[in-house]
Amino acid sequence: MNTYAFSISISIFCILTHISSSLTSDGLSLLALKSAITTDPTNSLTTWSETNSTPCHWSGITCNSAHRVTVVFLPHRNLTGYLPSELGALLSLKHLSLSNNNFSKPIPDHLFNATNLLSIDLSHNSLTGPLPEKIKNLKMLTFLDLSSNRLNGSLPESLGNLTSLAGTVNLSWNEFSGEIPASYGLFPVMVSLDLRGRWNHRRRRRRHWLRRWLKDGGD
Ligand SMILES: *[C@@H]1O[C@H](CO)[C@@H](O)[C@H](O)[C@H]1NC(C)=O
Ligand SMILES: *[C@@H]1O[C@H](CO)[C@@H](O)[C@H](O)[C@H]1NC(C)=O
Ligand SMILES: *[C@@H]1O[C@H](CO)[C@@H](O)[C@H](O)[C@H]1NC(C)=O
Ligand SMILES: *[C@@H]1O[C@H](CO)[C@@H](O)[C@H](O)[C@H]1NC(C)=O
Ligand SMILES: *[C@@H]1O[C@H](CO)[C@@H](O)[C@H](O)[C@H]1NC(C)=O
Ligand SMILES: *[C@@H]1O[C@H](CO)[C@@H](O)[C@H](O)[C@H]1NC(C)=O
Repeated sequence: MNTYAFSISISIFCILTHISSSLTSDGLSLLALKSAITTDPTNSLTTWSETNSTPCHWSGITCNSAHRVTVVFLPHRNLTGYLPSELGALLSLKHLSLSNNNFSKPIPDHLFNATNLLSIDLSHNSLTGPLPEKIKNLKMLTFLDLSSNRLNGSLPESLGNLTSLAGTVNLSWNEFSGEIPASYGLFPVMVSLDLRGRWNHRRRRRRHWLRRWLKDGGD
C-alpha cells in the first residue's frame, strides 16, 4: 500500500469512527449510568454500547419517535452502583424504574431536571441522604415509590405541592426524622401515602398522623 492509499484509508477509518461514535446525548447520559454501575451480575447492560447511534434498542430502554428516551426499566437486576446526575438530562423521561437493585449514595438533585417524569420507582435499594426539595420540579409526577432504602433527614415540605400525585407515594421503611409536613394533608384523596417503618423521632406522633391520613385519604 502506498502512502496515498494509506492516508485515504486512515481518513475513511476516521469518518466511520466519527459516524459510529455519534451517540445521542440521551445515550451518553445512559452510559454515565452504566459507568456508575460497578456490578451487573445479570448482564443487563451488555447491549449498552457507545458504538450505537441511539440507545433505543438497549435493554430496559424505550424511546419516542424522536429517539428520545422515555422509559428506563431495570428492576430486579441486582445492579450495584449509584445514580449519576446525568439521568436528569433525559428530558423526555417519563418512567424511571430501578427498584430491587443495590443503588447506594444519595439521590442527585439534578435527577429532578427531568421534569417530564410521571413515575419514579427506586424502592428496595440502599439509597442514603435526603429526599431533595427539588422534587417539587416534577409537576406531572403521579407515582413515587422510594420505600425500603436508607433515606434520612426531614421530609421535604414541597412534596405536598405536587398536586398531580394521583396514585402512590410510598416513603415507608426509610430513616426519615422530624415531623410530617402539614402540606402532605393536601394530597388528593386518591393518593395512598405509606409512611410505615423505621422512623427516628416522634414515633407516637407519626402513628397518630398516619392514622388520620389513612382515614381521610389513604386506601
Ligand atoms: C440477586 O441476588 C440475590 C441475592 O444475592 C439472589 O438470590 C438472586 O437470585 C439474584 N437475582 C438475579 C436475577 O440474579
Ligand atoms: C440541571 O439543572 C441545573 C440548573 O437548573 C444545571 O446547572 C445542571 O447542569 C442540570 N443538570 C443536568 C444533569 O442536566
Ligand atoms: C451492595 O453494594 C455494596 C456497596 O455499595 C456492597 O458492599 C454490597 O456487597 C452490595 N450487595 C450486593 C448484594 O450486591
Ligand atoms: C410501600 O412499600 C412497602 C415496602 O416496600 C410495601 O410493603 C407496601 O405495601 C407499600 N405500600 C403501598 C401503599 O403501596
Ligand atoms: C443521614 O445519614 C448520613 C450517613 O448516611 C449522615 O452523615 C447524616 O448526618 C444523616 N443526616 C441526618 C439529617 O440524619
Ligand atoms: C407550595 O405552594 C404554595 C402556593 O403555590 C407556595 O406558597 C409555597 O411556597 C409552596 N411551598 C413549597 C415548599 O414549595
